[in-house]
This record gives sequence, structure tokens and C-alpha cells, in this order.
Amino acid sequence: MGTVLSLKKVSKSYGALKVTDDIDFILKDGETLGILGPNGAGKTTLFNLISGDVRADNGSIFYCGEDITRVSPQNRCRQGIGRTYQIPHPFSGMTVFENLLVGATYGGNMSEDQADPICIDVLKKTGLIKKANLLSGSLTLLDRKRLELARALATQPKVLLLDEIAGGLTEHEAKELVDLIGDIKAEGVSMIWIEHVVHALLSVADRLLVINFGSKLADGDPDKVMNDPEVKRVYMGIEV
Ligand SMILES: Nc1ncnc2c1ncn2[C@@H]1O[C@H](COP(=O)(O)OP(=O)(O)OP(=O)(O)O)[C@@H](O)[C@H]1O
Ligand SMILES: [Mg+2]
Repeated sequence: MGTVLSLKKVSKSYGALKVTDDIDFILKDGETLGILGPNGAGKTTLFNLISGDVRADNGSIFYCGEDITRVSPQNRCRQGIGRTYQIPHPFSGMTVFENLLVGATYGGNMSEDQADPICIDVLKKTGLIKKANLLSGSLTLLDRKRLELARALATQPKVLLLDEIAGGLTEHEAKELVDLIGDIKAEGVSMIWIEHVVHALLSVADRLLVINFGSKLADGDPDKVMNDPEVKRVYMGIEV
């Protein structure tokens, strides 16, 4: 497996607070990497750095062998890096379908003719087809989370960044989400999934990365990482 994404000594501070501290990691082609870590550990900031929403203070980010550290967020998206936001922000004055169209045409660089069938397919997959013509601002939080995923999928990403999309789901809904993520994985999309719903994450992750105070605490095989005494102590609050 080749490497699709790599971060080399990436740092980001807000004032005196070093939120990302010299982070190194890679994502392999087709891999699903799970990210765990306490609140405020710097997980979302990592996504902001990868998507380009936030510029790194130091370090480099490589995507498909190319240095993208200074590439704009829209061009990173067009090159195949798709993401969802922890706090959904749909284009609330537009319908669900129109939100996907923006993803496909602007984010995915497709013509409207190319975009239409892709958006319809994504709406079916994500269970939003019956809500295609509703204004996205009228959706429940759960449907807005679905829309986050759907809009990212409409860009046809090669790398997909998922930021806490399982919180608040029922057991049945979480299973559906895990199945959907399994399908996306089977299509060859590489993914990084930040999630506090650990059992959902563990059912699809090939590898786990644990972040604490902006640094890597553990990185590797999910079973080994979950049994790491330091991870148990810091992340799960279990003294061993
Ligand atoms: N734009 C910003 N300005 C100032 N501080 C920020 C900014 N963005 C994040 N931070 C701070 O950086 C730290 C890490 O935030 P981040 O959102 O990356 O954490 P997280 O691991 O995603 O947490 P959570 O699990 O709660 O989502 C926090 O202390 C947060 O308050
Ligand atoms: Mg976060």
C-alpha cells in the first residue's frame, strides 16, 4: 500500500497554546485510520490543517506525493480531500440536493450533468433521498450530520475526513452508518475518522491514532492501542 497523506512535524499554536505539537503520521492508500483523544486534544485542528482551513505554523503536509502545505482549501478539496465538520454547517438557504450539487460542482469540479447522477446516488446511500427538496436549514441535527457526510461524498473524495458523525445515533443508526462507511471503504476511499463512539470506530478502523495535548500518544493496531496502559490511563481514565 502506498501513502496517500503524510504529515511531517506539523505544529499549530493559538497564542501560547500549542494545539498541534510536531505531529508526524501517514495515511495509507485505502486505509481507514481512527482517531481518539480527550476533548480539546487537537483532533479537529488536525483536520483543519489537512483540509487547509487552518495554516500550519511549521511542518509540511503531503498528499499523493505533492507538498500541499500552501495549497488553498478549495484546491485541496478539488484534488480529492473531502471533509465533514463536527458542527454541521450546511448552506441553510439551499435544499439538501442543492447542498450536494455545490459539493460536486464547486468542491468536486464536475459539470452539472456529471454531478446530477452522483448526487442522487449519494442521497440514496446516505438515506436522504426523500428529503432532497427540503431546505437544509429545516433538518434535525441528525439529518444535518448525514448531510455533512453526503456533501463530502458528493465531491468524490480520495481521502475523506470524518469528524464525529456517530454521536447521538441510536444503536440501529450507528450500525447503518458503520455499514455505509464499510461501503465507502470498499470503493477504495482512504479515511480518517475522529469519533468518541469507540465501538463504532473499532468496527471499521484498520489503525488507531490517539492524540493527547496535540501529540501522538499511540499509533498502530487497534487492539494493541486499546490495550496500551498509557492510552487506558489518559484516554479512558482507567488507572492500571
Ligand atoms: N480558532 C481557535 N482559536 C483559539 N483556540 C482554538 C481554536 N481552535 C481550537 N482551539 C483550541 O485548541 C484546542 C484543541 O481544539 P480542537 O477543536 O482541535 O480539539 P478536539 O480534540 O477536536 O476536541 P473535541 O473532542 O472537543 O472536539 C482547544 O483547547 C481549543 O479551545
Ligand atoms: Mg473536535
